[in-house]
This record gives sequence, C-alpha cells and structure tokens, in this order.
Amino acid sequence: MPTLIKDVSSHVGEEVRIGAWLYNKRSSGKIQFLQLRDGTGFIQGVLLKKQVPAEIWEAVKNLPQESSLYVWGTIRADERAPSGYELDVTQVEVIQAAEEYPISLKEHGIEFLMDHRHLWLRSPRQQAILRIRGEIIHAMQDWLSQQSFTLVDPPVLTPSSCEGTTELFHTKYFDEDAYLSQSGQLYMEAAAMAMGRVYSFGPTFRAEKSKTRRHLIEFWMIEPEMAFVEHEESLVMQEEFLSHIVDHVLKTCRSELNTLERDVSKLEQIKAPFARITYDEAVEFLNKEGFEFTWGDDFGSPHETKIAESYDRPVFITHYPTELKSFYMKPDPQRPEVVLCADLIAPEGYGEIIGGSQRIDDPALLEQRFAEHKLSTDVYQWYLDLRKYGSVPHSGFGIGLERTVAWICGLEHVREAIPFPRMLNRMYP
Ligand code: 4AD
Ligand code: MG
Repeated sequence: MPTLIKDVSSHVGEEVRIGAWLYNKRSSGKIQFLQLRDGTGFIQGVLLKKQVPAEIWEAVKNLPQESSLYVWGTIRADERAPSGYELDVTQVEVIQAAEEYPISLKEHGIEFLMDHRHLWLRSPRQQAILRIRGEIIHAMQDWLSQQSFTLVDPPVLTPSSCEGTTELFHTKYFDEDAYLSQSGQLYMEAAAMAMGRVYSFGPTFRAEKSKTRRHLIEFWMIEPEMAFVEHEESLVMQEEFLSHIVDHVLKTCRSELNTLERDVSKLEQIKAPFARITYDEAVEFLNKEGFEFTWGDDFGSPHETKIAESYDRPVFITHYPTELKSFYMKPDPQRPEVVLCADLIAPEGYGEIIGGSQRIDDPALLEQRFAEHKLSTDVYQWYLDLRKYGSVPHSGFGIGLERTVAWICGLEHVREAIPFPRMLNRMYP
C-alpha cells in the first residue's frame, strides 16, 4: 500500500512509495520540484537529474498538471517546507500523463468552476471544505450517539408533505402521487415513540424558487427527535450540540480552516448557552432599527442578519406566530397565537441553521390543524395514531448541514458546502 502524505512525519529517513497527482511543478536546470497531492496532503518532491534515468527525467519534465504518478523516495524533514517535509525522489512511474487540465492555477469565473465541479473538488480550498464537512458529520453523529440517540432512516419517497405543500417535488409512485422528502421529521416522531431518542441524517428536497446564497434544492439535514422533552429542554440540547460541533472542528481542522482563511477567533466564541429572544422582541428590535416590519411577517435575510449582529454567538428566536409555522407545532398554552418553536440564527450573516419545535401531542388539536391546513387525513392517519397510543410531550429539530458548513468554513455561498450542488438553475454535473 502506498504511504499517505499525511503520515510522512512517521517515515522520516525511510524510503516510501506515494500515489499522487501532480499539482504543480517548476524546474531549475538540473532539479525539478514536483508539488504532489494525494488527497490527504501536499508534499514537494525533489527530483535530481543525475539520480534518475534520462527517460524518466524527460517524461516528468513534460507532464501536465493533474497527471497521476507513483513516486518513490526518501522523506526528509525540512523546516522551510510548508508541510515540514520533503521527498527526495529516487524513482517515478507515470500512471497517466493527463490531458491539458482545464482548471489552471489562475482565477476562474464561478460559472466555469461550477461547470467543472467534478474537477474543482481537487483544489486545496474545496478539499478543505469537504474535510470539514466530513468532520462536522462525524461530530454530529458522535455527540448524538453519546447522548443515547439512535440513527433511524426515514423514507425519501413520501405520500405527504412536512413543511408546506408549495415546495414539494412531485413524482409518480406507479399510479399514485409521491413526493421527495422535505424532512424526515414525521417519521422520526414515530421512531421516537418507539426508541425515545432518535435522529435521521439524509438528503431532503425543496422545490424552492429561491435563488439566494443560502438555498439549495437538495440539502442534507440531521433531525433529532426526543420523547419526553419539552421546548426549553430542546433548546439546551441544540446549543450543546452545536457547541460540540464547532469545538470538534477547531480541534481537528486547524489547517483546513487556515487554508480557507477563516477567522477562528469568531468560532472560538461559540459556547453554550446561546441568547434567546422571542419573535415579539425581535419585531420590536427591528422596528427600533428602522425596518418596516409588522407582527405576522416572516423574517428575510436582512432581518436575520440585523438581529444576529447583536450577538457573538448564535441566537434563538422563539415563539413565532402560529400562522407562520408548520401544522405540527404545539401552541404556547399561555398564548395559543404563538408556537413553542425556535429558529437558531447563526452569526456573521449566515441566517437560520436550525429549525425546531415542540410537537402537538393532543389528537383533537392535530385533527383541527389538518382541517385548517387542508391536509388529507388519509395520508396522515398514521401520524395521528402516534397521538392515540401513549402520546407524550416531544420535541425535535432539524439542522441544515450545508448552512452549518458554510458558516463554520466562512463561505460566501452555500453552493461550495456540498460536493455536487443542485440549485435553481443547475443540475450539472
Ligand atoms: O426550518 P426547516 O424547514 O425545518 C424542518 O424541516 C423541520 N421539519 C425540522 C425538524 O424539526 N425536524 O429546515 C431545517 C433547516 C433550516 O434551519 C436550514 O438550516 C435547512 O434546514 N434548510 C435549508 N438548507 C439549504 N437549502 C434550503 N433550501 C433549506 N431549507 C431548509
Ligand atoms: Mg425553518
């Protein structure tokens, strides 16, 4: 097996073989400097003309960027090297001399890069984002597992909607109508009644005609659901969950954050508890700040950004008007015109990253909501059943993976937070 570049520090002085792509090269007379990458890291290979057969020297000299190689050599510690190590090359086998690579090391326009997303992923920046995304998922699953949550997989093809009927992707399920899942939540509620604490992790779909830097058509969501947990208790879970994720990224992804030039001091402030303000307080604040905003309106990005500016960590906005939110949210018993819910707004203008609530547990009220929202009781019968056989207070939330990645990485647009983004005007590659 070839040695991974990330592991070279434990092979100093040894002869190793590395499988790599040629990221860049320069030569000065009788020396060629090869920038090699294998996905786990970068290392400079130093090739001396006198050390290798003439045909290898010539072959390497003409290799385009992204050609694939096996390289043999000795690892040497070198303080001047960015990674701290260099490879004194003794032998090279060209696996494939690449065609002229379309993404050169100069700047390219965004549409060009999006058209070449399959190749763009190889850049140091995109690799850093993918690695951080992977570590965020890792941290989420680790924490949930420590907190006794079981991963349960909801279906992707569903007969009903969870988050309103206007943004559903329609398809046929033989002769029936079916929709791509907008959220696994309703199924997680069933699973929570079986297992207590559960979560789902999977792709979700919204046919949103929004062309913003925060919206994807297909995005990944983690949705924990907890039996016997009330609204306030769910907020405590959320802030601890998110603090753990940020802490894990800070511990494991320093060099990736560095590649992205992320201001980590902003992330170091992300520690539970987070502030909580009610929707009412947010409206009052916005009006004081000169926004024309009436009670009952939904927040847009400028509103969320303005509210977030007052805090150095995420902030919960709670108790939204019942009419603004989905059918399943439990009304505040003291004030039924608002629901026991919260959106968590990230700092630095990244907007809502978590949406959550306590769920209606009373079957009669749930039936009333079905009627108000004109939802057919046929396809929701099973969901109503959950309130008939040992109904309990329960709460849950959904955290959008790409928005979380975009915020933690400090990305300008959510399109870079997912390997192959599906957007309003793009499904290629
Ligand atoms: O607020 P949402 O719609 O909540 C739900 O789907 C609930 N059923 C979750 C639950 O309680 N189990 O979506 C949750 C999160 C948002 O806060 C946001 O981070 C992300 O999903 N999200 C999107 N991310 C990217 N593109 C979109 N179009 C998104 N829509 C929602
Ligand atoms: Mg929401």
